[in-house]
This record gives sequence, structure tokens and C-alpha cells, in this order.
Amino acid sequence: MSNLCVIGLQWGDEAKGKLVDLLTERFQIVVRYQGGANAGHTVVAGSETYKLHLIPSGILNPQATNVVAPGVVVHPATLLREIHGLEERGVDVAGHLRLSERAHVVLPWHVEEDRIANETEPGEESIGTTLRGIGPCYRDKVGRRYALRLGDLLRDDFEERVHQICKFKKRYLSEFSEYPVELDADQIIRDYGTMGQELSAMIGDTNTFLLDAAESGQSILFEGAQGALLDVDHGTFPYVTSSNSSGVGVCSGSGLPPRFIHQVIGVAKCYSTRVGGGPFPTEQDNETGEHIRQLGKEFGTTTGRPRRCGWFDAVAVRYTARLSGVDRLSMMMLDVLSELDEIRICVAYEIDGRQIDDFPSHVEDLRKVRPVYETLPGWQTDITGVRSLEDLPANAVAYVQRISQLVGRPVEVISVGPDRTQTIFCNEMLSVV
Ligand code: GDP
Ligand code: IMO
Ligand code: MG
Repeated sequence: MSNLCVIGLQWGDEAKGKLVDLLTERFQIVVRYQGGANAGHTVVAGSETYKLHLIPSGILNPQATNVVAPGVVVHPATLLREIHGLEERGVDVAGHLRLSERAHVVLPWHVEEDRIANETEPGEESIGTTLRGIGPCYRDKVGRRYALRLGDLLRDDFEERVHQICKFKKRYLSEFSEYPVELDADQIIRDYGTMGQELSAMIGDTNTFLLDAAESGQSILFEGAQGALLDVDHGTFPYVTSSNSSGVGVCSGSGLPPRFIHQVIGVAKCYSTRVGGGPFPTEQDNETGEHIRQLGKEFGTTTGRPRRCGWFDAVAVRYTARLSGVDRLSMMMLDVLSELDEIRICVAYEIDGRQIDDFPSHVEDLRKVRPVYETLPGWQTDITGVRSLEDLPANAVAYVQRISQLVGRPVEVISVGPDRTQTIFCNEMLSVV
């Protein structure tokens, strides 16, 4: 049985949650391996909508074991809220969720640091984080000294560690904050200690669990969070998240070596969106962008912020598909473009009078590029009820085919609506490559 990764190829919110939920019945284990509660993955099953932040989107399949691996940063209160919310709706979470004792914990000071950084970023464009303490938690993980992991919540020296870190964080935060910073170490010890106890049956060594599973041939689905353009090393730095959200992060985050990664599906919207700051070459800050935002309901799952919208950027997605080792594409939200007369695809960039096909590594170069567009005719037909390739309007097929050709990967899935059923599996993979 082969293992599969689902990776977002743009700036997040590509509908990874929908795809993971659809694929999950074919797998025994589903793993979240990076990011934290900055993620918001939506699964729509009939009249029920689930918004998942920390729990893998495989949780709705009662057969699968879901794993939160070492590379994830866990905010225990958010996780418990999510567990309780799902259990109230009849989903058995406790029996199907394993949390790595190595996963780092998001603490109140991380959220404060995120807030302060957001408020005090000077004149230049702000990163516009999700304010979930993600960057500061990863910073402490790499810095090592002031970090706590899930397993630490259950250890004898937990109180002492919190006192020690709190002392430092109070001094550190009061340096930067315009407001007095309240950090009550005793309260934090009580809150996090209690939450640790509540989660304790799920906390353990997921590395050994996953290695045993992989070596014995169990099937594993890896669920990426964010998108490859937000990867801290390979994305639009510094307008990125703080983890490796492209395909290169699967091994380090999950604790499974490359030999257990067999296939990668890249997920992309049929247009582009971005939340927060940073360059976005194909952005349509105009009526077209507003049209896409309204039809695609492009408002953040985690923060509710309106997402910036624009045309599909084949230069960016070709780069991230290569970077992430993508075998096949899953093209989402095709229905959102149905009313447009004409649709544009960015096929190259122009910079300083030169045409380039590669994605620039420096954000200032990316700011300067001008997209070179190709214009394709729209189809002006509601496609939300279409379930097979044959029933898709010819112009819609041609549009997806052109993307496949430009990105250099075959298309396996086309999504025409949020519901599980609104999906076309292209048996003979739609491909011209
Ligand atoms: P994720 O973070 O990648 O899992 O994506 P989000 O859940 O943040 O955002 C995707 C949104 O699009 C969700 O509200 C989904 O319910 C919705 N969605 C998924 N697929 C489709 C589709 O094909 N068409 C439309 N119109 N909406 C979709
Ligand atoms: P999913 O998994 C879209 C963006 C934020 C901000 C930048 C850094 O739902 O696709 P952070 O809080 O991570 O330090 O913010 O990254 N961002 C996302 N954008 N989808 C996400 O997750 C995101 N997670 C972070 O908007 O620009
Ligand atoms: Mg999302």
C-alpha cells in the first residue's frame, strides 16, 4: 500500500481539507505534521460543515487513526475545544487521535508576542499573521531554552520550567509592549497542567507508532497545512508562515524518512488567493477579485479576514509543484469561475523588460514582476452538479487542461463545489503532459 501526501501549492486554503476527507477512506492513518491552529480546513458532508484547525481531516472516517506529529505546534485549549465540539456532534475523537509528546506547545506568551509583533511592525507591509502564536512558538523551539513540548506538561519539573520561562518572558515582553503584560505563572501551570491531564491518554511517542506502521505496510496519508508559497525556507519570505509547508516538510515534521513517501497530490484552486500581507503578482484588487471573493466565499476559515483574490499563477504553481515533488494535481473551486466571460492565466513574468519563467526568490523582485497573461474563454454554465469529465463544458475542460500543461502535471481530481459529492475523479487522468 502506498503512502500519499496532500500539499497546498499556493498560499493556503486550497481546499486541502475537502480532499483529505475524500481520500481518507483509502488510508489507515492520517497525519498532520506542521503548522498549528493557523490552519483552518473545511469539510462539508451534506448539511454538516466541520472546520478543523489542529485535528487531521481524517477524523470523520471512523476507521482511521489520526496523528498530530512532532512538527505541529499545539495550542491545547484550541485542541480541546475542537475535540469537545466534534464529540458533541457524535464523532469519536479520543479513540482515534494520537498526539506526539515531541510536539511543541503554544503558550500565552507566544500569542502575546504575535500580537505585539503585529501591532509594532513599522511602516512596511505587515505579515498579517493569524495571531495564533505560531511564529513565536517555532522561534522558541529553534531557540530551545524557553520551549515546552506536550510531553513536558506531564513531567515532574513542569511547574519549575513554567516559573523559569515566565520570569524571562515577563522581562522580554515588557521591553516591547506598550501595555503591561500579565503573565500569571501559577495560573498557567494550573491551566496547562489540567489540559495536559485531559489529553494525557492521547499523548505518546508517535515516531515509534508511525515507524512501526510504515514498516509493516500500513497506509498513511499526510495532510499538509498552509501552502508551499508560505514555506519558511522556499516561499515568499518573509511573508510566510514559520514551518516547512511545502512537500519538503513532510519527513522532518512527521518523523518518517523519505522512503515512506510514495506519492504527492498537489492541491490548487483554479484561481489564486492570499490572506495577510506579501506580494501577489496576479492579484485582482478590482471587480473581478470581488466577484471571485463573493462566489468563492473567500473569507478566512480561521480569522474571517477577506482573502485577496486573483488569477491562476502558473509560474508560481509550476515552481511549487516541482518543489513539492507533485505527481498529480487536484484542481479545486472550478465552479467559482463559471460566470466569467473570460479567464486569465499567468503564464510567465516580466521583470525589468525581460520575460522569466522561474519564480523569483527575493520578495522585492516578486513585487516588481508583471504577469504575462493568456486569456481563455469562460463557459457561463453552472457546473456544480457535474460529476464526470464528459459532462463538463468544453471550455472548462480546456481551461483545466491548459493549467495541467503549464504546470507540467496531470490532473486527477476536479472539484466543483464544497460538498464531498461535488467532485470529479478523472479516471483517465486529464493530462496533456
Ligand atoms: P484548506 O485550508 O486548504 O482546507 O481550505 P479552506 O477550508 O480554508 O478553504 C476552502 C473553502 O472552499 C472551504 O470553505 C470549502 O468548503 C470550500 N470548497 C472546497 N472545495 C470547493 C469547490 O470546489 N468549490 C467551492 N465553491 N468551494 C469549495
Ligand atoms: P490553511 O492550512 C492561509 C498565513 C497568514 C499570514 C502568514 C503567517 O488553512 O491553508 P502565521 O499565523 O502562520 O504566522 O501567519 O501565513 N497563513 C495562512 N493563510 N491558510 C492558512 O492555513 C494559513 N496559515 C497561515 O495569513 O499571511
Ligand atoms: Mg484554510
